[in-house]
Amino acid sequence: MTKLSRNFLLAPSHLVTFLVLALTTIAVSGRHLSSGPQPEQIHISYGEDYSMIITWSTFMRGLNTIVQYGTSSLDHVAYGKAQRFINPDLYFHTQYIHVATVPNLQPGVKYIYRCGAPEGWSKQFNFTAKRNDSSWAPAIALFGDMGSANAQSLSRLIQDVQQNLYDAIFHVGDFAYDMHKGHGEVGDKFMRQIQPMAAVVPYMTCPGNHEAYANFSNYKNRFHMPGDIDSNNMFFSFDIGPAHVISFSTEYYFFIEYGLYQIEHQYHWLEADLKKANEPANRAKHPWIITMAHRPMYCSNNDKDDCTKSESLIRKGIPIIHAYGLEDLFYKYGVDLEIWAHEHSYERLLPIYDRHVYNTSSINPYYKPEAPVHITTGSAGCSEKHDLFANKTAPWSAFRSVDYGYTRMKIHNSSHLYMEQVSDDKHGEVIDKMWLIKDKHGPYKDRALKYYPKTEESLRHMEAINQKSIFANQKKMSFRVIKK
Ligand SMILES: *[C@@H]1O[C@H](CO)[C@@H](O)[C@H](O)[C@H]1NC(C)=O
Ligand SMILES: *[C@@H]1O[C@H](CO)[C@@H](O)[C@H](O)[C@H]1NC(C)=O
Ligand SMILES: *[C@@H]1O[C@H](CO)[C@@H](O)[C@H](O)[C@H]1NC(C)=O
Ligand SMILES: *[C@@H]1O[C@H](CO)[C@@H](O)[C@H](O)[C@H]1NC(C)=O
Ligand SMILES: *[C@@H]1O[C@H](CO)[C@@H](O)[C@H](O)[C@H]1NC(C)=O
Ligand SMILES: *[C@@H]1O[C@H](CO)[C@@H](O)[C@H](O)[C@H]1NC(C)=O
Repeated sequence: MTKLSRNFLLAPSHLVTFLVLALTTIAVSGRHLSSGPQPEQIHISYGEDYSMIITWSTFMRGLNTIVQYGTSSLDHVAYGKAQRFINPDLYFHTQYIHVATVPNLQPGVKYIYRCGAPEGWSKQFNFTAKRNDSSWAPAIALFGDMGSANAQSLSRLIQDVQQNLYDAIFHVGDFAYDMHKGHGEVGDKFMRQIQPMAAVVPYMTCPGNHEAYANFSNYKNRFHMPGDIDSNNMFFSFDIGPAHVISFSTEYYFFIEYGLYQIEHQYHWLEADLKKANEPANRAKHPWIITMAHRPMYCSNNDKDDCTKSESLIRKGIPIIHAYGLEDLFYKYGVDLEIWAHEHSYERLLPIYDRHVYNTSSINPYYKPEAPVHITTGSAGCSEKHDLFANKTAPWSAFRSVDYGYTRMKIHNSSHLYMEQVSDDKHGEVIDKMWLIKDKHGPYKDRALKYYPKTEESLRHMEAINQKSIFANQKKMSFRVIKK
């Protein structure tokens, strides 16, 4: 149970309201149950190996879960399962979430599909199965923090998808604002809004703080990612062309009421996954290791979030004992690129480790960098609008913008990775670009490290940033978002 429902139930004056609401909403959800065999909220994601996971919702009990698919006609069929999902509040908004895996796809082949059951089929969509050839240079759209209201980048993203720009989309946490709200109908609406892109391009996710309500139940139920079913989509990894992508939960470090042990559990999984990705045969095939998770280790915003702290929880782990900090782990296993969101802005960092910048060239700091590169892209657009930056730029901050927008990434080959930032405010103008170039991938620890600037200097800059934090913006840190 969450704080909201606990408080709600405890307040006796609310008991009558509760009963009235419960009765009326049983009637309301009854309406949903008696209608709606039509599939909606259709979205797809990469499954294990060369499979695709198709997920959709209906509002009618007892429907089958069928995907008809094929390369030129719908001559194949895959069956899945439906799970009843009741939004975990007092309104009993009920839907059936259907999940089917389309297995054994031929790499790089375009498939057409429709999903549903004889009582109601979706329209026909198509997707391209993941390629397996070494010449594939996957293109990916990246963003976090996109809501149902004020989803400013959404139409441009859909336009990009319709022009076939992307092989996949990574949504780096914080969906809908929030999926559980409006009795879960904010989530339904959001899932319908993203369908034009999410039904045709794999929509890969990680959880953010806005998913925390009732132990991330909306997130866990509405999305279906590859990997261990026990992780509930909270952490998983997959390969895409020359990259191994690791998605994980930063939220375990903040919502500890759901189980502190989850931090340790995930940490061990991360280490095992990184070890495996670094086995010579694996790293040769997928040299880029890219992480995606919601809350950054570093940022220069003025909101006092975790990333503005010199010892952020994500970076250094549990305070004082410094257990389960992720910066050392990612450094040790040679993570190349770390993608974050949470701050409603865009920030590109110079290669960084332990608050030192490690670059080997002043012309392109991203040429053979000797530490991971971080990008924070949380400005897709949501009801909470922008997060502003502190006036002073941190020495490791290379570019920042509060424009609404999103990031495009193209992993050209084993040595070249390109990223650019699209400003929706500037009508699609590309406002930032980066070429990350590496001839070797692997653990950084054995290399001769050069750094700029010196520690004390970084510290002073960092403290200055903290002092400039004039807006006590704690909204993302607590359950207060749930209050209505
Ligand atoms: C695939 O989808 C696109 C966009 O909806 C459409 O233009 C195209 O005709 C479809 N292709 C097939 C083979 O159905
Ligand atoms: C890619 O997959 C196809 C079909 O499964 C297979 O024939 C081919 O050998 C694979 N190519 C590589 C490079 O693994
Ligand atoms: C939250 O969910 C996870 C499974 O995803 C479970 O292991 C954990 O025990 C749950 N926490 C609580 C407090 O129910
Ligand atoms: C790293 O980049 C900074 C900023 O561009 C530059 O001043 C510095 O000289 C570079 N370091 C090295 C070792 O090239
Ligand atoms: C930051 O800069 C703006 C514009 O120059 C100024 O109005 C504001 O007072 C500055 N804030 C702080 C905390 O220095
Ligand atoms: C990798 O891609 C870059 C950018 O397209 C290109 O300049 C470079 O020659 C490629 N390297 C190899 C080994 O193909």
